[in-house]
Formats: sequence, structure tokens, C-alpha cells
Amino acid sequence: MIEEILPPVVAAEEAFTDPQQVTLFAEEESVVARAVPKRRREFATVRHCARIALGRLGVPPAPILPGQRGAPRWPDGTVGSMTHCTGYRTAAVALRRDLISIGVDAEPHEVLPADVLERVSLPAERLMLARLTATVPEVYWDRLLFSVKESVYKAWYPVTGRWLDFTEAEVTFEESESRFRVALLVPGPVLDGRQWQEFTGRYLVRHGLVATAVTLPD
Ligand SMILES: CC(C)(COP(=O)(O)OP(=O)(O)OC[C@H]1O[C@@H](n2cnc3c(N)ncnc32)[C@H](O)[C@@H]1OP(=O)(O)O)[C@@H](O)C(=O)NCCC(=O)NCCS
Repeated sequence: MIEEILPPVVAAEEAFTDPQQVTLFAEEESVVARAVPKRRREFATVRHCARIALGRLGVPPAPILPGQRGAPRWPDGTVGSMTHCTGYRTAAVALRRDLISIGVDAEPHEVLPADVLERVSLPAERLMLARLTATVPEVYWDRLLFSVKESVYKAWYPVTGRWLDFTEAEVTFEESESRFRVALLVPGPVLDGRQWQEFTGRYLVRHGLVATAVTLPD
């Protein structure tokens, strides 16, 4: 399903269950050697997905290790993003010559705890969520907002190496198009000759999940 919200230059693979046997590289094994089984499973399955997706771009299997602040280190010449939540894992990758950065996120389609919403949203966003909830009540817009911000961060961090706070980006949903715009409230990165002050992307609500994707460019 994630492919529906990504441009055609992106190769993506997803899994709704964990395959029985996934082989990790020794360097990857050592990252999760002491992790709980749930973490080992999500780590392995999402890398299995990533290697399938990279293979579609002609990239041979290689370890995908966490780098600075947990950002995955993709093979040279590629960019990508991964996410995992209960019942879902996905990896999305592209050649750097086609895209500058990718961020994907998936979450259970459930209401976001009120204290979390307060922490991750701006007053204007909460007003927008109230309007959207009145028009399209079957969607947990608060969860979608959270997921958009996680996707933004995953696209932002690899190209800036900087933290971005939840209050430093303002999301606007374009509900009729299943799209969103995100205005950066801090100076955006200068990449490939332009300043990126706005990130855009698409979202999907299906199978009890919300999924969001940001690509630069969109
Ligand atoms: C890093 C973060 C976005 C991960 O999201 P999450 O919902 O907790 O977890 P997900 O399963 O969706 O994603 C985990 C994957 O994100 C990727 N990731 C982790 N840190 C990352 C970073 N700094 N940059 C890019 N990708 C990162 C990794 O691939 C990780 O999987 P792995 O550990 O198996 O390699 C989140 O934990 C976080 O720190 N958020 C705070 C920052 C933020 O979102 N700011 C909002 C700006 S508007």
C-alpha cells in the first residue's frame, strides 16, 4: 500500500507479518544482539524489505546500520527511509540522482493520547484537526498529524544532521487530495541549489493503519 503514496522513482517493499527466517549481516546482528525479540523482529523484517527494494534499483545486498541519531546508513548513491509498527513494516528507497531525501512513517490508526497531541501540535494545527474531524470523523486526524511529523523528521534529519522539534513545522492537510504541506518554521536546508522551506507528501488510511510519506522533491 505504501507505493500508492510514493512517486514512481521510489522502490518500496512492505510486510504485514514477519517472515520465519531473515538473515542479517553480522554487523546488523551485533546491533540487536541484546535487543528484546520484538525489536529484533522489526529490525530484521524491515531490513529484509529494504534489501528487496534496493534490489529493484539494482543495488546488491549490504548491511543497513544505524548511523548518527539512529538514521539508517544507506548504500552509496541511494536514499531511503524505514518504519515499523504493530502489524506493519516498510522500507522505501530511491537513487540519490532521482531524489534528495525520503521519510516514511506508519502508525496504528488509533486516537493519539491527548497529552501527546498537546506536545506535538501547534494551536493552529489543533484548530485544523477539529475542522477535519467534523468533516471526516472516521479518520483519527491527530494520529495522522503525528505520523506526518515523524515522516518529515526522517526526511529532514539525513540532509541536515539537526534535530527538528514538533513545534518547528506546521502541517496543513489537503483532504480532498490525500496530501499535506509542511511549512518549516526554522530555516530549511539548502539542497541541490534551492532552499526547502516546505516539505510535501501524501497519506493513506487503510487496514487499521495510517501511513505517510514525504519526498524531496515530491
Ligand atoms: C526517529 C523517529 C522519527 C522514529 O520514529 P518512530 O515512530 O519512533 O519509529 P518508526 O518505526 O516509525 O521508525 C524507526 C526507524 O526510523 C529510522 N530513523 C531513526 N532515527 C532516524 C533519524 N534520525 N533520521 C532518519 N531516520 C531515522 C530508522 O530506520 C528506524 O528503524 P531502525 O532503528 O530499525 O533502523 C522518532 O523516534 C523521533 O525521534 N521523533 C522525534 C523527532 C520528530 O519526529 N520531530 C518532528 C519534526 S516535525
